[in-house]
Amino acid sequence: MSILPILQYPDERLHKIAKKVDAITDEVEKLIFDMSETMYTAPGVGLAATQVNVHLQIIVVDVSETHDELLVLINPELITSEGKNKFEEGCLSVPGIYDKVKRAEKITVKALNARGEEFNVTAEGLLAVCIQHEMDHLLGKVFVEYLSHLKQVRIRAKLKKRLRETF
Ligand code: NI
Repeated sequence: MSILPILQYPDERLHKIAKKVDAITDEVEKLIFDMSETMYTAPGVGLAATQVNVHLQIIVVDVSETHDELLVLINPELITSEGKNKFEEGCLSVPGIYDKVKRAEKITVKALNARGEEFNVTAEGLLAVCIQHEMDHLLGKVFVEYLSHLKQVRIRAKLKKRLRETF
C-alpha cells in the first residue's frame, strides 16, 4: 500500500468529472487500498478518487471514531434524499478551511462495494454529509464552491499564499 498525493484546491484537476468503473480490476483494488490508507493517514473521514488525480467514480468514507467502519462506494448514485441540514465541512484538498454547507439530512445511495456487489446505504448526520461531499468531488465540485463568491476569493488567496510559503 502507499500514500497518494492529494490535489490541493484550486488545482484545475479537481474539476474533472469522474467516469464509471467498468470492472473491479487489480488496479482498482490497489487504488481502493491506497485511497483508504491515504485517508486514514491524513487523517480524514472521506476521500474521492478525484482528489488523488484518478478520475473514476470511487469514494472511501469512515466517520467512526475507531477508524474501523470503512465504506467503499463505487459508481454511487443518489436514490432518495430528504430534509436539510447545515454542517461545518472541511476537505483534505482545502486544508485549514472549514465552513458550513447546506445539504440533505438523510440520503439513500446505491453503489457497488469493493467486491463489485451492489448495495444500498441509508445515511444521516455526519455520514450523510460526508457521502454527499465525496460524491460532489466525483462531479468536479469542491465544497468551497457552495460558499459566497467573496469567501471563495479569500480562500483561493490564502491557499495560494500558503503554497508559495511552502515551496
Ligand atoms: Ni473533500
